[in-house]
Amino acid sequence: MARMAMAALVVVVVAAAVLAGGATAQLKEGFYEHTCPQAEKIVKDYVKEHIPHAPSVAATLLRTHFHDCFVRGCDASVLLNATGGGEAERDAAPNLTLRSFGFIDRIKAMLEEECPGVVSCADIVALAARDSVGVIVITKYSPAGELQGGPFWSVPTGRRDGTVSIKQEALDQIPAPTMNFTTLLQSFRNKSLDLADLVWLSGAHTIGIAHCNSFTKRLYNFTGRGGPGDADPSLDPEYAANLRRTKCKTATDNTTIVEMDPGSFLTFDLSYYRGVLKHRGLFQSDAALITDATAKADILSVVNAPPEMFFQVFARSMVNLGAVDVKTGAEGEIRKHCAVVNKH
Ligand code: HEM
Ligand SMILES: *[C@@H]1O[C@H](CO)[C@@H](O)[C@H](O)[C@H]1NC(C)=O
Ligand SMILES: *[C@@H]1O[C@H](CO)[C@@H](O)[C@H](O)[C@H]1NC(C)=O
Ligand SMILES: *[C@@H]1O[C@H](CO)[C@@H](O)[C@H](O)[C@H]1NC(C)=O
Ligand SMILES: *[C@@H]1O[C@H](CO)[C@@H](O)[C@H](O)[C@H]1NC(C)=O
Ligand SMILES: *[C@@H]1O[C@H](CO)[C@@H](O)[C@H](O)[C@H]1NC(C)=O
Ligand SMILES: *[C@@H]1O[C@H](CO)[C@@H](O)[C@H](O)[C@H]1NC(C)=O
Repeated sequence: MARMAMAALVVVVVAAAVLAGGATAQLKEGFYEHTCPQAEKIVKDYVKEHIPHAPSVAATLLRTHFHDCFVRGCDASVLLNATGGGEAERDAAPNLTLRSFGFIDRIKAMLEEECPGVVSCADIVALAARDSVGVIVITKYSPAGELQGGPFWSVPTGRRDGTVSIKQEALDQIPAPTMNFTTLLQSFRNKSLDLADLVWLSGAHTIGIAHCNSFTKRLYNFTGRGGPGDADPSLDPEYAANLRRTKCKTATDNTTIVEMDPGSFLTFDLSYYRGVLKHRGLFQSDAALITDATAKADILSVVNAPPEMFFQVFARSMVNLGAVDVKTGAEGEIRKHCAVVNKH
């Protein structure tokens, strides 16, 4: 039964990868092969050296890539500092922790030394997200005791950097944790992504943390009535009580952090989906995934298959995400410093 579902999924994955080919035609694997042959190795080596000491940065890098791609395409606009005119994407309320910005800046500095003006910040974001997830995954052991698995996706390169970053666009276009399935799907469709992309990319929440204020409304004040008992009924009441007791002790806590996939927040595995099925997803947007019959059936089939199945569908959707509205050829520029546009 599970085997059949898996076989069907493989067919879907392969067919979709072929169809998606058109969207990525302008990016290509090994884009820097001749212009900066060491580029991808420099990114990977830096990640391999530093992520083991700071594994939680991997989640931040992955999320940064997502936020980047959802506003003006994957063009590193998320990294730009505000200029005189107003606030930039990085100042938007669904704040990114700034840790990933410094990490990317340091990789960029090394690449500028190796081959000035060649490798885009947008490609660094995409590569660092992939490589850092590759470092932290320890998903399971083979019968012989070897570490196995983890998602690996190809990152065709050649993205160019944007020159515009506007806070309001991030607020409008990055999906909110309060969204229901309909709105989430609309938000993904707006970026030419589909239901499968929504379902599998949400699986990124198998790693990383959230601040209490991203979901406290579900614990204390779901309908606006407030007071005891006004929790989101779609959240497991026992889990909600536990979060109120041990983590988010007040309705205004905006500093405490909670593992989104408790107990395995540094492990890229299926337990995020298992939690969602048990009504323990932290956000309404997580819970929303099982309010749609198709999405729920997809999740059930992947949860009952070997983790490789999840890695495959996740990888396919990461390739789709990394191709959203990319700038290529003569569009945009190659920034010298990821936080500022070049002076002309
Ligand atoms: C489907 C819509 C999504 C919503 C509404 C959403 C919302 C959120 C929120 C509110 C947080 C917690 C932020 C905080 O409180 O500090 C978060 C964390 C995170 N998100 Fe999502 N997200 C979505 C999709 C994605 C996607 C597509 C990815 C990547 C492929 C992603 C990767 C992450 C990661 C890795 C973290 C943890 C960050 C860290 O530990 O620093 N999310 N997300
Ligand atoms: C960008 O802004 C950050 C935080 O305000 C600051 O530390 C950094 O120096 C700025 N970078 C540049 C290149 O202006
Ligand atoms: C969001 O970012 C702004 C600007 O970098 C910062 O002042 C603010 O404290 C951050 N908010 C949160 C909730 O981290
Ligand atoms: C989803 O949210 C939107 C926007 O808040 C709302 O208009 C719509 O009625 C909601 N849909 C469902 C099925 O709850
Ligand atoms: C999708 O795009 C439309 C048109 O730009 C916009 O009005 C709408 O708010 C977007 N929806 C979401 C959920 O981002
Ligand atoms: C609960 O939500 C309502 C409506 O959003 C708001 O007016 C009220 O201040 C909130 N109460 C608390 C205790 O946060
Ligand atoms: C957190 O909440 C406190 C009190 O409500 C507020 O003063 C502070 O600015 C908030 N911090 C952030 C980072 O939003």
